[in-house]
Amino acid sequence: MIDLHTHILPGVDDGAADLDMALAMGRSAWEAGITAIAVTPHFYEIPSWSRVKQKVKELQTEFARAQIGVELVPGAELLMDLDLLEMKKEEIPTYGDAGRYCLVELPALQIPLYAEQVLFAVQTKNITPIIAHPERYAAVVSDPNLVLTWIEQGCLVQMNSGSILGRFGPAIQHTAKILLRQGMVQVVASDGHGSDRRRLNLGEAFDALAALLGPIKARDLVETNPRRILDGDFELKEEPLEYRRKRRFFFSRFA
Ligand SMILES: [Fe+2]
Repeated sequence: MIDLHTHILPGVDDGAADLDMALAMGRSAWEAGITAIAVTPHFYEIPSWSRVKQKVKELQTEFARAQIGVELVPGAELLMDLDLLEMKKEEIPTYGDAGRYCLVELPALQIPLYAEQVLFAVQTKNITPIIAHPERYAAVVSDPNLVLTWIEQGCLVQMNSGSILGRFGPAIQHTAKILLRQGMVQVVASDGHGSDRRRLNLGEAFDALAALLGPIKARDLVETNPRRILDGDFELKEEPLEYRRKRRFFFSRFA
């Protein structure tokens, strides 16, 4: 499995507090069958792409010293912001050297009016935005089809493994299931912040994904699609479907 969203870089953001914790996260991921981890710190905490890459290189050396065989790939979690309009292509943190995809988080409580404009601006630089954990946004919980508009615009979608496991409550878990069933998710990743509560739990989510979608689609979400994204050649295999709420019994009876 490949985890495309983690806060494992030590002492940078609200993720791994120190090197010991980063190594503990890496070791447990390795033991759970994760072979590659994208290191995606909040970019506003370390706003230099070259510095992120240097720090990931240093962490990879520590992993080798500790005999943890996980491949680390540099990345970052960008916050949806008008500043993104000003960034040059080479300043935008993407996944590894392929330079084709970036991870973008939107504010959880309100989708900014300029979101579409910013996403389009990133795409004009030949970089595809991957929307981070939309199932956690209040607007998506109210209307899951909002995710369709981002996919139709050419973006991809990453869901958190904790959402499908119910770690963020029943409303977010319900939304996660809707998005998965409608084919609105291309990647599931941990968004792991530590070695305890918000750990790198992709392996735990795999069983829940397989129960919901079958093992082949579950594997696509945690391995096949992430690998293609790292290689810079992902293609959408199936069109997502619009979600229609079931009518309540009372209304459907009299309609
Ligand atoms: Fe994150």
